[in-house]
Amino acid sequence: MVTVLAIETSCDETAVAVVQDRQVCSSIVASQVDVHQEYGGVVPEVASRQHVATINQAIAQALEVSGLDWSAIDGIATTCAPGLIGALLVGLTAAKTLALAHQKPLVGVHHLEGHIYASYLAEPNLEPPFLCLLVSGGHTSLIAVRDCGNYEILGQTRDDAAGEAFDKVARLLNLSYPGGPAIDRLAAQGNAQAFSLPEGNISLPGGGSHPYDSSFSGLKTAMLRLVQKLQQDSSVLPVADLAASFQGTVARSLTRRTIACALDYGFSTIVVGGGVAANRALRDQLKLAAAKQNIQVLFPPLALCTDNAAMIGCAAAEHLSRGHTSALTLGARSRLGIEDVMQLYTTPKESDKLKQL
Ligand code: KG4
Ligand code: ZN
Repeated sequence: MVTVLAIETSCDETAVAVVQDRQVCSSIVASQVDVHQEYGGVVPEVASRQHVATINQAIAQALEVSGLDWSAIDGIATTCAPGLIGALLVGLTAAKTLALAHQKPLVGVHHLEGHIYASYLAEPNLEPPFLCLLVSGGHTSLIAVRDCGNYEILGQTRDDAAGEAFDKVARLLNLSYPGGPAIDRLAAQGNAQAFSLPEGNISLPGGGSHPYDSSFSGLKTAMLRLVQKLQQDSSVLPVADLAASFQGTVARSLTRRTIACALDYGFSTIVVGGGVAANRALRDQLKLAAAKQNIQVLFPPLALCTDNAAMIGCAAAEHLSRGHTSALTLGARSRLGIEDVMQLYTTPKESDKLKQL
């Protein structure tokens, strides 16, 4: 059994957790949503300062709730890429300090690998291979999960992430930040067929469209034009119908691509992760479409879909069990493809090589 204390500060949640393999001992998430709400989005510098103010307390609380002490901790994990660089540095510096002070190995974790591992916390018996649809504020990706550290991006967005599109359209409709939950709530009272909107297909040079990549910029522009036209015709906007039509279109686009990808690559399990996995239309449409093809689809509970440190700890525990640790010189990276996650580790073989030099 591997026990890890994990830190996540890549965006606007200061999160610390203690995880044993695929089991959560404690998970503290201090959300900054209230602080960023007045700006209508995350302000990076404000996020970093907020992490600095909260992190020590979150670490102490996570350890206390777990009922464990430092002697039981096998490693210190932290998200080190991708994310807001100043925000990542707060977690990384705290993790390095703890690793040095308590003489524990450091395990850097790729944020998206963490989102994939959230599904292992929800379903401890789940094993690769499976297809992961990752839909968050920063990413919209279809990832082939073959093993720990072995990932292939099969599809992604060419512009906005799905959550980003929800947040921007919510602003257009004068709804509060974050926009996804606000649109989801409002859509429940609207008619998803009220307006016909483009799904955002990516044209291929030889004709046809890319089967797995998506684009939300055309849909966003179509929403803007529609709202402007409706505002000219009437002073009252049909916001519920607009929310339901937008949400339905995003869900249809993601469902079509995900099912096509699973069928083409022969995956019998689809796992969904990231904040947009909470969306009701996406849940309903994907479950229905997957059932028709005899594909199993798993949606982890919302607390595990949105940013948290338990998912980071779960990924770190598996890397640590395989002897993957990070050097104390590890840097934070605002960008790093999930296919390159093994760059974060010194595997036992490499360290043996270093000793020989
Ligand atoms: O995974 P997450 O917490 O943070 C990132 O790593 O980005 O995702 C946050 C995103 C936000 O854009 C938010 O609007 C969206 O997830 N979101 C939703 C819903 N709940 C959260 N989008 C659509 N429907 C929801 N119910
Ligand atoms: Zn995330």
